[in-house]
Amino acid sequence: MGTTRIAYSGIAAIVIAVSLTAYQAPLSAQQSGGSALRVGANDLGGTVASRNGPEAGVWVIAETNDLPTKFAKLVVTDDRGRYLIPGLPKGKYSVWVRGYGLVDSRKVQSTPGKTLNLTAVPAPSAAAAAEYYPGMYWYSMINIPGKQEFPGTGEKGNGISSNIKSQEQWVDTVKNACQSCHSLGSKGMRTVPKEFGPGVAGWARRTQSGQALTQMALGLGYMGADAALKNYADWTDRIAAGELPFGKPERPKGVERNMVVTMWDFSTPKYYLHDGISTDRNNPRLNANGPIYQCQRPDLRRARGEHRPDSGARPGEPPPVLHQASGQQSQNAVLHGIADAAVGLLGQRADLGRTLEHSQRDDG
Ligand code: HEC
Repeated sequence: MGTTRIAYSGIAAIVIAVSLTAYQAPLSAQQSGGSALRVGANDLGGTVASRNGPEAGVWVIAETNDLPTKFAKLVVTDDRGRYLIPGLPKGKYSVWVRGYGLVDSRKVQSTPGKTLNLTAVPAPSAAAAAEYYPGMYWYSMINIPGKQEFPGTGEKGNGISSNIKSQEQWVDTVKNACQSCHSLGSKGMRTVPKEFGPGVAGWARRTQSGQALTQMALGLGYMGADAALKNYADWTDRIAAGELPFGKPERPKGVERNMVVTMWDFSTPKYYLHDGISTDRNNPRLNANGPIYQCQRPDLRRARGEHRPDSGARPGEPPPVLHQASGQQSQNAVLHGIADAAVGLLGQRADLGRTLEHSQRDDG
């Protein structure tokens, strides 16, 4: 199974492959506590313990920059705190422990083939532990206006747009309109950079500071900008004042502990929106273990219609490669086995480890 994730400016995209079944047998044996841990020449394995004893259901992460792109593999400890990271390419790895109720352990350097026992670090406070919770635990702290506030009464009323007829419609927008592009509870979102300042003014300023400002203004306007900004500002102000999520995530249990996650970075932080595809959702067997095709969003000048003469589009025309290209067109190209067409179309090919830049002209 493979999934890909969209990332935005300043963040290299990551290709994530999750495998459950491949390593299930040996690790299930581990879960039952029967067999001894065998660490092969390409594996890393050992036990994780803290001052509280063995730590079960925590992640052990091995990460290296020795390969052509950054590479990481992670697994979960069993009931006795044991882990086994299988099939690591040769290289020097930083290895550490992350888990709910912990803070990240010190990174230890190691190479495949070693037995490596690790020391986990219990979180010194509830606030320190919460830093590792999934963003949703933070985003769920946002207050939802009461049912009596709907339908909205607009700018001269309660600030909620009269478009929004019900509380459910507000919740739907809060959940889906913004998060179709990015999460909202993650650290960068729930913390307002101090340059913008607190409160509504800070939120208005920060959502207007980047290239995606129109899309964000659209979403906020649809909800009623006054009420939406107030709502978001109230949320981040409470977080800044120290409020913590009311829910606590559980550590992985049972079969969830058999998961092996492999991640490769593709692209570089200098690119803006990008997207990747590894197969066709209608036929996920297609292109198994094959290359991953990637699309870069054209630079802003092109998005504004100031195309270069060789880009195939006339000035004023909509940019030819946007989300449709990463979705339908690239799927079709991959589907029909036209790898070169897909590469030409998408501009760049990331081949799990090797990145071939075909179309630097997109950089303007
Ligand atoms: C079309 C995609 C898209 C949508 C929809 C969208 N955003 Fe964004 N958002 C971005 C991008 C891209 C950035 C990075 C800055 C930029 O390029 O504008 C960003 C940045 C932000 C930031 C600034 C983070 C920082 O670094 O301080 C906030 C806050 C934010 N978005 C909130 C929202 C909210 C709230 C909504 C829904 C009303 C929303 N966004 C909808 C794409 C989107």
